[in-house]
Amino acid sequence: MANLATNFLGISSPNPFWLASAPPTDKEYNVQRAFEQGWGGVVWKTLGEDPPVVNVNGPRYGAIYGPDRRLLGLNNIELITDRALDTNLEEIARVKRNWPDRAMIVSLMVPCEEAPWQKILALVEETGADGVELNFGCPHGMSERGMGAAVGQVPEYIEMVARWCKQHSKLPVIVKLTPNITDIRFPARAARRGGADAVSLINTISSIVSIDLDNFAPTPTIDGKGSHGGYCGPAVKPIALNMVAEIARDPETIGMPMSGIGGITTWRDAAEFIALGCGTVQVCTAAMTYGFKVVKEMSSGLSDWMDEKGYASIEDFRGRAAPNVTDWQYLNLNYVTKARIDQDKCISCGRCHIACEDTSHQAITSMLDGIRKFEVIDEECVGCNLCVDVCPVEDCITMERITGFDPRTKRPIPDTYGNWTSHPNNPMAKERRQHAAEPVVLPDAAE
Ligand SMILES: Cc1cc2nc3c(=O)[nH]c(=O)nc-3n(C[C@H](O)[C@H](O)[C@H](O)COP(=O)(O)O)c2cc1C
Ligand code: SF4
Ligand code: SF4
Repeated sequence: MANLATNFLGISSPNPFWLASAPPTDKEYNVQRAFEQGWGGVVWKTLGEDPPVVNVNGPRYGAIYGPDRRLLGLNNIELITDRALDTNLEEIARVKRNWPDRAMIVSLMVPCEEAPWQKILALVEETGADGVELNFGCPHGMSERGMGAAVGQVPEYIEMVARWCKQHSKLPVIVKLTPNITDIRFPARAARRGGADAVSLINTISSIVSIDLDNFAPTPTIDGKGSHGGYCGPAVKPIALNMVAEIARDPETIGMPMSGIGGITTWRDAAEFIALGCGTVQVCTAAMTYGFKVVKEMSSGLSDWMDEKGYASIEDFRGRAAPNVTDWQYLNLNYVTKARIDQDKCISCGRCHIACEDTSHQAITSMLDGIRKFEVIDEECVGCNLCVDVCPVEDCITMERITGFDPRTKRPIPDTYGNWTSHPNNPMAKERRQHAAEPVVLPDAAE
């Protein structure tokens, strides 16, 4: 059976599944029960200075649902912990003593000055915790006070605080990044320059989930007003994966340990983050939606998949997808696909036809010989995949690679790799081709 144990920055945990800093990790009662269910570690709900912050007393969450009311995105206007620092520290120390094999990371957020960081780091070290995570991510409330995302959006501040933390603590330092930034590589590079041991990402995305059309106010609504909050859950996973991939392949941060966060709900989500290089993954919304027991399915699902694939340990597949993330310009233009409809699976709903007819390339029939029938017209199909994405039946439409001759372009398909950098339509290509060592075979150049 696959071994799920991880060693991240020297911190071991029996599996890569950590609870992210959030309500699930706000107190001993929660974390204790989370560990009983099998979570490999936790990042304790962000600690701040005393007196503790004060949360709103009205609704603090809003959600986006799928048609089956499955929660797809969660918005929150909660702040960091609103419990006294001492209470948290005592509980952290006790939980770590009781669960020595689980990872205990403490999330921190204090004003952007050296003294408060130095002070809180010393207190955390006394608890026996395994590491700290610097919360440079919260996009609401704390950022208005010059903390959270207000720090995470300025690479120089990230570098400065990371450096203080490394100077004043022996604990591994993880910098938690905000996605509310144009290019995630800049804060990640700053974290590395500051000496941080790892980055974790993503924190929540600035958002308003809806406007109440009776009150004309954002939701969640507090006495007639609303403010932006932080968005998370399944809807943010694609954004998180892209940011993780960017850091994984940036020459300045390549190899930097990462803890992946954002919409992880199933073992498959977790495996995807790990395949991009993450050493551990963190989960919040899935635990808040389905309870701590989801970790059982995550662990068994990951273990079964690893067994099936022959991966004995997490390291056997960690990072294997990272080299396959590239820029558009390097994609093979000689890779030609056509849609294929499995007539036995087709329920004749017509969605593929409408989508292709109205917004793609008029490449799917609706009638053939007077009968309702959906078939791909290879002469028109550009292989865009839209029909696959809109078809309600799984695997009913698939994309098939064709070789030899493309009936659409009426040209042979070169069996070599050719990309935009050397395509005749690329104004920059001519110059490059003159310097190229190998002759480049190009696709439908006259298109
Ligand atoms: C209600 C709530 C409170 C949160 N509080 C914190 C926090 O105190 N510190 C922090 O670093 N992240 C906080 N987060 C962000 C999560 O740790 C995590 O980065 C984010 O929710 C994305 O993961 P998910 O999609 O699995 O929820 C909070 C998230 C939620 C939903
Ligand atoms: S792949 Fe695109 S072009 Fe081809 S049939 Fe499907 S929607 Fe139409
Ligand atoms: S969308 Fe799928 S099920 Fe519906 S007609 Fe097209 S192929 Fe058939």
